[in-house]
Amino acid sequence: MSGQTLQAPRGTADLLGDRAKALAEVRELCAQILGQAGYEPIETPAFEATELFARGVGEATDIVQKEMYTFTDGSGRSLTLRPEGTAAVCRAYIEHGMHRRPAPVRLWYFGPFFRYERAQAGRYRQFWQVGVEAFGSPDPALDAELIVLLVRIARALGVERTELRLSSLGKPESRDRYRQALQAFLRSREDELAAEVRARIDQNPLRAFDSKDPGTQAVMAEAPLLLDFLDEEDLAHLEAVRELLGEAGIDHRLDPRLVRGLDYYTQTVFELVCPDLGAQSGVGGGGRYDRLVAQLGGPPTPAGGFAAGIERLLLAAGRFDGRFLDPAPDLYLLYTTTPASRDQRRRAFGILASLWEAGLAAQLEVTGRSLRRGLAQAAKVGARLAVLVGEEDRVALKDLGSGEQWTVPADRLVAVAKERLGGNGHPA
Ligand code: HAM
Repeated sequence: MSGQTLQAPRGTADLLGDRAKALAEVRELCAQILGQAGYEPIETPAFEATELFARGVGEATDIVQKEMYTFTDGSGRSLTLRPEGTAAVCRAYIEHGMHRRPAPVRLWYFGPFFRYERAQAGRYRQFWQVGVEAFGSPDPALDAELIVLLVRIARALGVERTELRLSSLGKPESRDRYRQALQAFLRSREDELAAEVRARIDQNPLRAFDSKDPGTQAVMAEAPLLLDFLDEEDLAHLEAVRELLGEAGIDHRLDPRLVRGLDYYTQTVFELVCPDLGAQSGVGGGGRYDRLVAQLGGPPTPAGGFAAGIERLLLAAGRFDGRFLDPAPDLYLLYTTTPASRDQRRRAFGILASLWEAGLAAQLEVTGRSLRRGLAQAAKVGARLAVLVGEEDRVALKDLGSGEQWTVPADRLVAVAKERLGGNGHPA
């Protein structure tokens, strides 16, 4: 039906103006912080074979069971919009033989992710993440490096009040022993648990720690803790990570009940929480996943990573609208008479292209404003100079601050404008 207005799907948002600029700014900032630490950018597709997430993230997770946007394409393949980045980056690591590169291989990405979740403040169906994955090192310094980078990104954005929660899930063998103990405990208290928790005692008993049900929470306060099942090696690893965080001046809290919603973790897990955000307080999280690469068909490769939600970081920084890339042009081009003649437009356009080429930020009047209104618009967008294009080959250059005006031959304009802007033109 033509003419009917349409809206963006629930849980998604158009990012306009300051919000779109904020996204670009955060990406730039992440590039700086992560580049400085030796991370290289990687971009993987927005969709992958469904099997990748089923095998990578884990069949029993909420993400795979209820949150994936899965569809069948024209040739009958099952594809899924990526709900997270780790499985995809591991797939790329294996597919491109990156294990043959000197270790460690440090990668980062920034992009949209998709989860069919109940949409609310801070929780969306399309959201943005910055993610980091590092392959080829079992050193606790790698875990600490990841945590420091997550905290650095949050701080650089102005997120002040955060709490870092840290724990260890141990090796899969320790976890299996723990799982059995936890299952036995849950069964012994079955009638006090929420139906949803009861139904998952076999498949995913750990999720019981996440339950919001008061009865379940009371039971879980007495549940055995994974930390008590770790072996010496796991405990030494955790201690080493804690010591290094102390060295970097990063406070943390050991949280033995920390549960991550993804199955691939081994040993270190962490979450950066901003209590000011209320229900959706996790701004970032990650951990080590030493078995995942092998599980996806690659060689055994110790690895770790994290991801942070961009919207949540910006909300926590209290500046979804705030300090942004400077959009003000150096120059604003307009016509001395309107409507502009074909010749005027041709020359103005040539000047515009040469200003851009020279690295100056410039905008051309394209809505037919009169000279007076055009000058008002130039001031409004924050231009420093106006270029008045008339019928001759010379143009007038007007300083919008002082009101001074000169006549300049068109072919000298770039040089004169640069001089006038004092070499401080905005980067193009
Ligand atoms: P995650 O904890 O599922 O981890 O997501 C990381 C962050 O993404 C969360 O802390 C949150 O800020 C943001 N986020 C998640 N879901 C939503 C949503 N529906 N709306 C808004 N923000 C959201 C991962 O995704 C792992 N891949 C992290 C990782 C990388 N672990 C190892 N390497």
